[in-house]
Amino acid sequence: MKTIQLRTEIPGPKSRALMQRREAAIPRGPYHATPVFAARSAGAVIEDVDGNHFLDFAGGIGCLNTGHRPPEVDSAIRAQLEKYLHLCFSVTPYEGYVAVAEKLNALAPGKFAKKTLLVNSGAEAVENAVKIARAYSKRPAIIVFNDAFHGRTMMTLALTSKTHPYKAGFEPFPGDVYRLPYAYCYRCSYGLTYPSCKLACATALEDAFKRVVAPESVAAVIAEPVLGEGGFVVPPKEYYPLISEICRKHGILFIADEVQSGIARTGKYFAIEHYGVEPDLITSAKSLGGGLPLAAVTGRAEIMDASGVGGLGGTFGGNPLACASALAALDIIEKDGLLVRSTHLGRAFESRAKAWQRQFAIVGDVRGMGGMCAIELVKDHSSREPHPEATKKIAQYCYEHGLITITAGTYGNVMRILVPLVVSDAQFEEGLDVLEAALGNACGTTAPQPRFATSNS
Ligand SMILES: Cc1ncc(COP(=O)(O)O)c(C=O)c1O
Repeated sequence: MKTIQLRTEIPGPKSRALMQRREAAIPRGPYHATPVFAARSAGAVIEDVDGNHFLDFAGGIGCLNTGHRPPEVDSAIRAQLEKYLHLCFSVTPYEGYVAVAEKLNALAPGKFAKKTLLVNSGAEAVENAVKIARAYSKRPAIIVFNDAFHGRTMMTLALTSKTHPYKAGFEPFPGDVYRLPYAYCYRCSYGLTYPSCKLACATALEDAFKRVVAPESVAAVIAEPVLGEGGFVVPPKEYYPLISEICRKHGILFIADEVQSGIARTGKYFAIEHYGVEPDLITSAKSLGGGLPLAAVTGRAEIMDASGVGGLGGTFGGNPLACASALAALDIIEKDGLLVRSTHLGRAFESRAKAWQRQFAIVGDVRGMGGMCAIELVKDHSSREPHPEATKKIAQYCYEHGLITITAGTYGNVMRILVPLVVSDAQFEEGLDVLEAALGNACGTTAPQPRFATSNS
């Protein structure tokens, strides 16, 4: 029995009616990758209001590494409901907040003493990391990279790279932010090839200290260990050791933004562990809360303590329900071996996607780290010209055939996989079959599969 079960046209009549209400009541700004309204969800499956069952390869943009509503998270939330909901940690503290902080301090790389601040969203975590880095270093500047995404608040938009739709029209942004090319080997900004490039993109940091901003003015370098919205770009293994060494030499903090790549997504708790680097600060969010909004800044104790009393916090940060959910989700990762599972899913994806790369001229690059994996679509292998039109067509085909996917990349030409790590092997292969059919359809090499073919098979 297949997981994907489509009973109506997509979107179905109830979803279409809800969309009309949505359009009247909500600004057009919030975008929907898949405009069907959810009725319920479990594991890696979402059922919509018309009774259609979708396989979820997006996980609410990487927030569901432990799946939709795992029973342990469900019970932890219910148990917390019996005790108290909101207190505000700045008014009356509670144990859940402390327990999440202790857990993250233990999981984050580095044997040094650490402390953790809890907030509500990824952007808020990055904002606070900047505040903490500035308070500690007494320096203003922040260095970020091309194709980075760090959030939608004003400071994090200054750090984010992609202009449309994120930044355009929302200027001006806070200053003292400087941007350098990233280690995007498939589209090297220097026209070089790894490894003969000798990591020119990392050593460019030293050059920037002469041409762009004085090192003694720089508080921190912020990087996503694996780009998220920027297209799941994985830098070479020497990149972060080099970047962090240059930072250390100049007394600059290195901040790893693990909002998307953290919490088991890449086969480790934090993607930066693959590089053997111990960041001064790490931001996490998304899957941390097991489905509830929770984010964190974890870092060296003396840096985290640089801010004065009352300088950090917020009304809802580290909400008791979200802390209970996070503790249960972190237990699931350990108990159910989700780090190993992530690596397994990554390998399964890679072997299918490498075959697609040989078969389809539009599959330019196959890349990833564990369960954070992607294909980059191009017009042809030799020109590497981005193919956003084919990417849109593939995403639309997947959606119409019951697979929820999301795209990524500065050129909008990357299909990324953020499937809940609890997906079964059969479900994962079923989803990849749909993606393969979508590629064939986009290339005109295979006829579209009927949309309802899966309902009784
Ligand atoms: C790496 C990274 N940083 C920050 C953010 C912002 O997180 P949020 O949407 O929770 O504010 C995101 C969101 O996608 C992200 O991927």
